[in-house]
Amino acid sequence: MRRLHAGEVTHAADVLADAFDDDPVAAFIFRAGAPRARALRRFFRIQLQHLFLPHGEVWTVDAPSPSGSRRLAGVAMWSPADHRKATWRDALRLVPVLPAVARGPQPVDALRLLAAVEEARPRRPLWYLATLGTAPELQRQGYGSALLGPVLRRADEEGREAYLESSKESNIAFYARHRFEVVGEVHAPGGGPTLWLMLRPPRPPEG
Ligand SMILES: CC(C)(COP(=O)(O)OP(=O)(O)OC[C@H]1O[C@@H](n2cnc3c(N)ncnc32)[C@H](O)[C@@H]1OP(=O)(O)O)[C@@H](O)C(=O)NCCC(=O)NCCS
Repeated sequence: MRRLHAGEVTHAADVLADAFDDDPVAAFIFRAGAPRARALRRFFRIQLQHLFLPHGEVWTVDAPSPSGSRRLAGVAMWSPADHRKATWRDALRLVPVLPAVARGPQPVDALRLLAAVEEARPRRPLWYLATLGTAPELQRQGYGSALLGPVLRRADEEGREAYLESSKESNIAFYARHRFEVVGEVHAPGGGPTLWLMLRPPRPPEG
């Protein structure tokens, strides 16, 4: 496990875009096929480059590659416990993604959903897992769990909570293995997907 380097943003965004291609929230926001793939790549590139590499904690892991070249297996993007709230400046960074949202299946409901998720996020200092994704062909090999490790260990040492929004019901059991508990749900307007809000209390100190 290691921190992502600035020169790996494009590669990491590609891995995340592939991991989230079948995500119910991505499907609610972006048109299927090439438009979704392009929008996700752009979205993750902006998030990594402007929001999470400068202010956050971005972890990655190298997968063995037959050619010997470096290949990222997955990426975890965290906001640190003491990080200030997102600013207008941060929001403006995401403007290049708006045309893809506007051309999506239901742009108004999509923006409402994003606002509701933001609104539901706790305001107290905690470790926020904004994104976790493993390359589709490398899932179920332990990379996702390993990627959570460094920050969850640190959260335990600091006695801090961790928080995430899960966009797939099937991920709840995965996160529960890492001691996250469902504390709420956000339902997209117009019969869209549900997001499960999950909180992880710090592990009590041993002894
Ligand atoms: C969710 C996600 C990050 C998990 O990553 P992963 O690399 O597959 O995670 P792991 O391999 O550590 O664990 C996944 C499951 O595989 C199991 N597993 C791990 N190693 C295994 C192995 N060698 N053999 C069989 N199963 C294994 C784990 O026990 C776990 O099972 P669980 O879901 O019942 O808890 C990944 O599925 C993903 O990227 N999904 C798409 C994007 C997404 O949904 N991200 C989360 C948004 S909230």
